[in-house]
Amino acid sequence: MRTPRRSPTPRHYLMCPPTYFRVSYSINPWMDPDKPVDLALAHAQWEDLRDRYRALGHTVEELPPHPAFPDMVFAANGATVVDGRVLGARFAFAERYGEAAVHAEWYRGHGFAPVREPQHVNEGEGDFAVTASWLLAGRGFRSSPLSHAEAQEYFARPVIGLDLVDPRYYHLDTALCVLDPGGGAPGGGPAVPSRHGGGAAEVMYYPGAFSAGSRAVLARLFPGALIAGPADAAAFGLNAVSDGRHVLLPQAAVGLFEPLRERGYEPIGMDLTELVKGGGSVKCVTGELRLS
Ligand code: ARG
Repeated sequence: MRTPRRSPTPRHYLMCPPTYFRVSYSINPWMDPDKPVDLALAHAQWEDLRDRYRALGHTVEELPPHPAFPDMVFAANGATVVDGRVLGARFAFAERYGEAAVHAEWYRGHGFAPVREPQHVNEGEGDFAVTASWLLAGRGFRSSPLSHAEAQEYFARPVIGLDLVDPRYYHLDTALCVLDPGGGAPGGGPAVPSRHGGGAAEVMYYPGAFSAGSRAVLARLFPGALIAGPADAAAFGLNAVSDGRHVLLPQAAVGLFEPLRERGYEPIGMDLTELVKGGGSVKCVTGELRLS
């Protein structure tokens, strides 16, 4: 089998420094308030990721942190942006509820329009993943199934609902990563890529995080997907960010590096161990601003 040639496309990311990061409550199985967090190390790890994106030619915007929200470093949860349209978040837990307004304010202040205040609980890109043809949408722990219809109507893209069943993988982005959106554009492209010359979307995921029906849906949509095993999933290996060629993922997800290389991707291992104590890694701290 020939290894495909992968081209990166320049991306626009939103990150929030972990200035006030701490684990003072527990809303997912990874969070243990008794485990100390090394804030200086968290900062260094976060900066390393931000600088890596910039070195790869991507734009990184910084959202000013807010002292009331220790989980704000997980910037992917604050909104979903597709074709420049912003669907705000509505958090499931009181501890994070107020973050949504801070994000919405930032988008309005930076010229984004429209910015929709959602009716139903959705935790942004934690549960929405974007391909050229679809929005893949997680449910079961955080985002309401009702948010799926809301997103479909707002973004005019068909939503594929996926049921998460393992509390360790409480957000879709802890169990699935879009490596290539397909359609030849970052998140854009024609509705049916295969018939219009664009490529099909490529993903990697951990089947154990999904219900039997959702596993079958994923197998049908992505027959060539990279399937991750339990150890790499537990190392947050699916919580990765791809620009179409470079895949930034936790260093500890060692089993994913070779399969990614075989598919023509360039894996880049990152160390975000301090942020994993909050239940997130590379993708959780990276919101993608899909401007077109
Ligand atoms: N402590 C945060 C929470 O439980 C972590 C969020 C991780 N973000 C993500 N996109 N999965 O809400």
